[in-house]
Amino acid sequence: MTIPKSAFFVLLLCLLHPIVQAETPPTSVTPASTTLSKNITATNGIYSLPFHSREEIENFLKSAKIIKDKMLGEGITNPHKLTLEEGNIQRYGVFKSIDDRRFGITQLSGGAEVDFKDSWKFEVAAYELDKLIRLNMVPVTVERAYKGSKGSLQIWVPNCMTEDDRLKKNLTPPDRLSWRRELAKMHVFDALIYNSDRNQGNLLITSDWKLFMIDHSRTFKNLDILRGAQDLNYFSRSMMDSIKKLDKASLMQHCGHYLMTTEIETMLKRRDLLVQLYNKVLAERGDAATFP
Ligand SMILES: Nc1ncnc2c1ncn2[C@@H]1O[C@H](COP(=O)(O)OP(=O)(O)OP(=O)(O)O)[C@@H](O)[C@H]1O
Ligand SMILES: [Mg+2]
Repeated sequence: MTIPKSAFFVLLLCLLHPIVQAETPPTSVTPASTTLSKNITATNGIYSLPFHSREEIENFLKSAKIIKDKMLGEGITNPHKLTLEEGNIQRYGVFKSIDDRRFGITQLSGGAEVDFKDSWKFEVAAYELDKLIRLNMVPVTVERAYKGSKGSLQIWVPNCMTEDDRLKKNLTPPDRLSWRRELAKMHVFDALIYNSDRNQGNLLITSDWKLFMIDHSRTFKNLDILRGAQDLNYFSRSMMDSIKKLDKASLMQHCGHYLMTTEIETMLKRRDLLVQLYNKVLAERGDAATFP
């Protein structure tokens, strides 16, 4: 069997560690093993260097100076890739200020949509929800004002490929079971937030095959149905335990600034449907349908 040129190229990039430096602005570096805190997963140093916790990254995003601005993406939502600086630390961040809500039918490139919503507020809400259920799969995202507009600012996860890149390069995960588990958690999260935009560019894969979910501006639709129900057949028990515990009071406290009360109530209805489905799958397939 011959190895495709593209796969060889990616392997080479992985071996040539300086790619991380090339994509990450210069910063002070401390060995990951000595700085990792418990609530941060060890994933190619992105969160650990030079930060110790998600809270530290939140603070950095809120207060760092914006020293450079570059447009990102295809220009639909006009995200900006900002260079942020504080002391001797530099990082990239993604800023979005879109806040578009249309009632009735909106014609989109992929078809018509009822009550279309695309908002930076959902980016922050998705991160806050990720924190509430202790998922650790949405990069740190905060509210920040830039050039007179309120918006979301998300830390850039360096040294990643998108799912799109992975498919083009025909790469397969080294540990298929652990990759299947990452995807299973993503499907549950997407059903919970009613994500209508999980395209292959909205899924980041780190060099150690951890999955980060990005681009949640088209979520939290007011529909009490499970989108993508056909993919909901394998569940993380700890994630489902956290989802079961979600309640209106804590969601209002953590996401209430970014979601309307009806959006929270509808999410809780989807949560109930998810739990029902989980219980059914458990009864039918038992442990084969779950993982820790
Ligand atoms: N936090 C992040 N870390 C690393 N890369 C990111 C991050 N956020 C976005 N990107 C990269 O930028 C691309 C575009 O970002 P995003 O998907 O959020 O915007 P978009 O709304 O799809 O843009 P457009 O509306 O122009 O299509 C992603 O596909 C990904 O490659
Ligand atoms: Mg996108």
